[in-house]
Amino acid sequence: MIFDILTIFPEYFESPLRVGLLGKALKRGLLEVRLHNLRDFATDKHRTIDDKPFGGGEGMLFKPEPLYRALESLKAESPLPRVIYLSPQGRLLEHRLAQELAQEQRLVLLCGRYEGIDERIRAHFVDMELSIGDYVLFGGEAAALVVLEAVARWVPGVVGCEDSVRRDSFAEGLLKYPQYTRPRDFLGYRVPEVLLSGDHARVERWRREKSLEVTFDRRPDLLRTARLSPEDRALLQELFRRRVRLYLALIHYPVINKEGRKIASSFTNLDLHDIARLARTYGVRAYYLVQPLRDQRAIMEELLRFWLSGPGARHNPDRAEALKVVRLARSLEEVLAQIRSAEGEAPLLLATDARPRREALSYEEAARLVRSGRPILILLGTAWGLAPEVLDRADYFLEPLYGTLDAYNHLSVRAAASIILDRLLREFSGLGPNPSNSTRN
Ligand code: ADE
Repeated sequence: MIFDILTIFPEYFESPLRVGLLGKALKRGLLEVRLHNLRDFATDKHRTIDDKPFGGGEGMLFKPEPLYRALESLKAESPLPRVIYLSPQGRLLEHRLAQELAQEQRLVLLCGRYEGIDERIRAHFVDMELSIGDYVLFGGEAAALVVLEAVARWVPGVVGCEDSVRRDSFAEGLLKYPQYTRPRDFLGYRVPEVLLSGDHARVERWRREKSLEVTFDRRPDLLRTARLSPEDRALLQELFRRRVRLYLALIHYPVINKEGRKIASSFTNLDLHDIARLARTYGVRAYYLVQPLRDQRAIMEELLRFWLSGPGARHNPDRAEALKVVRLARSLEEVLAQIRSAEGEAPLLLATDARPRREALSYEEAARLVRSGRPILILLGTAWGLAPEVLDRADYFLEPLYGTLDAYNHLSVRAAASIILDRLLREFSGLGPNPSNSTRN
């Protein structure tokens, strides 16, 4: 495979191309890297390649003419290359794209500097704009090296043991399992016994489990596209059951009314059904309805009886299955006591509030907390929201949910609960269904 690197700093690449597997692959002729100095394509005596941007502003841009001449001269040679411009505005490089690029016979890697290149070159003479991450480097040279290494690994023969390329992080869409070498005991930290067992099947199983676990903990987003066997799914479901100890409580007292006064709100049948169905779908351990008013609780109990053991259960067993997660409680204290007794520890309280708060957790942070294995109780308010005395007990607040265009965010508590759960657990959605009847690959 041939890489043509177009840069104003060809010397930048000298040592990276001499060492390690890349150096070896070049010596063995498996790869060819040609360095081209963009200044060689300038025509004035100062070898000018940059100019000021029209419209003013900071910095300089690569002018179109030297770039055009350089690219045209490279394209005139065969095989016809795919031209890649490295820039933070590009498509993000990831494992699969690197593998795809390794199918090409020849790549041109155009390294920008300064403020970038003239847009006409980018739009009309470049095949792909590529970024290596959401940060800005001094120029495209370091990014070109990253692309070179990520792609070269997939060229047959470059990495001696092709099996190791296939086993690397991302190769199956998962992160890699942890590895150990001698000594067996380092400062009292011991190598896992299974790795010393000599039982290859056990070692392989352990590695796969660890790979799934590391991915679950650190990059659950990868699970949505990873290649998972039925055994992998079973393991991940087990991990989910162990780690995600999530509870919901819909508080009817103490909440506030429109005037900000503390009240007990009345029960809503839609909240009973819809949040129970949501909780069941997303693997919530229990959904509490907190209601101290005896008459209100009597109605809820009657409805639950109807759906759990009465005609409703016979008519719609799926609904009975959802309503099984429902628990009635008189107070938040009662909820906490029940969770403490089921989990052996008190849950962290995560409050929702439609008003902005400085200290709110982002959904990414909250999702990490949910995966961490701590029991968590999400407090949802009815009426005009949770009373200050409940908010004061919260360990964390979730960011308010906003729509798209303005600050209007008067969602029903059922809609808010759905959005919240999906944001916290979306990486795991579809983990359960059998692959034969699901769209997950
Ligand atoms: N040039 C400057 N920053 C870059 C990045 N993040 N990716 C690719 N090229 C770059």
